[in-house]
Amino acid sequence: MAIEKTFSIIKPDAVERGLIAEILKMITDTGLKVKAMKLIHMDRPQAEGFYAVHKERPFFNELVEYMISGPVVVSCLEGENAIEKYRTLMGSTNPADAAEGTIRAAYGIDIQNNSCHGSDGPDTAKIEVAYFFNDDELVG
Ligand code: CMP
Repeated sequence: MAIEKTFSIIKPDAVERGLIAEILKMITDTGLKVKAMKLIHMDRPQAEGFYAVHKERPFFNELVEYMISGPVVVSCLEGENAIEKYRTLMGSTNPADAAEGTIRAAYGIDIQNNSCHGSDGPDTAKIEVAYFFNDDELVG
């Protein structure tokens, strides 16, 4: 199976509740490696640009407000089948539907305050990693 990179955000609701370490442990317990990581507080243009694909959705403005409401942890993760592996670990977008043992089942509050984000495919992963990290910020 291919070694892939994916992009992760530990979202404001999780950072605010002191859950960075718990979520990182769940991530690294799957065998995924952290290639780059930083704590940032996004500004509005940065959040709007990141979620531009959702611009026409009714929840877009609320989503941007939420994503700039507090700090987040952005990271680039690497490993075998990293994109699918991390999506499985996150669980369904709506925590109410998320399988037991997933991040969103454990910590998600509702469909917006769902604690984490992960890339949905290889093209998105490349774009999202590059949105927050320069090549020289990735270790190895
Ligand atoms: P994420 O995986 O980051 O992708 C887009 C985000 O929009 C999603 O997680 C949720 O935080 C949010 N989102 C998706 N659907 C809805 C919805 N129906 N209502 C509010 N927020 C949503």
